[in-house]
Amino acid sequence: MSARPTDMLEEEHRYIQKVVGAMAVMAEALEMGQKVDVETLKGIVEFMRTFADKCHHGKEEAYLFPTLVGKGVPVRGCPLAILTAEHLRGRTLVRELSETTEAYAKDGPEAKRALVECLRDMTNLYPNHIWKEDYLLFPMTNKILTSEEQQELQDKFEKVEESIGRDVHHRFERMALALEEKTRKS
Ligand SMILES: [Fe+2]
Ligand SMILES: [Fe+2]
Repeated sequence: MSARPTDMLEEEHRYIQKVVGAMAVMAEALEMGQKVDVETLKGIVEFMRTFADKCHHGKEEAYLFPTLVGKGVPVRGCPLAILTAEHLRGRTLVRELSETTEAYAKDGPEAKRALVECLRDMTNLYPNHIWKEDYLLFPMTNKILTSEEQQELQDKFEKVEESIGRDVHHRFERMALALEEKTRKS
C-alpha cells in the first residue's frame, strides 16, 4: 500500500516539534536575561499560522476528523472534541505570540514576561497534543479506515498541499530545520 495519510501528518508533527523546541530554547534564554531575535519570533508566528494551522490542522479538521465521524467516532468528547479544542487554543496562542512579539520589539523588558508566558503555554500545549494524535488518534484511524478510504483521504491531503503550494510547504520545512540548528548552537 502507498503511504498512509497519517504518515504525512506524523511527518508534519516532526517539523512542528522542531519549532516548538526552538520556542522552549527562546523562552529559557529570555528567562536568563538574554535578548531574542524579533525576526526569528516573527518567523515562528508565520510557521505556526501557515504550516501548523492552515496546512496541518486544516487537513485534520477539514478531512480527517469528519472522515472519522462518518465512520462512527463521536464528534463530542474524546478524542475529537478535545483535539479540536486544542487547535482553537493553539490559534489563540499564535495570535498572542504575534501580539507579544510586536510588544517585545517596541518595549523589550516590559513585554518580556508576557512573551515568555505565551512561549511556555505553546510548549506545554503542542507536545501533548501531538502525542495524543501520534499514539491514539492515528493508530485508531489506521484501524478504522480501509485502504481505499485511506487513499481517498491521502488524495484530499494532496489537494490541500497544492492549494497552499508545495514550495510554501518546503520553505517552512527548511525554516524548521534552520531554526532547530540555530537554537541548538545558541
Ligand atoms: Fe491536531
Ligand atoms: Fe496534528
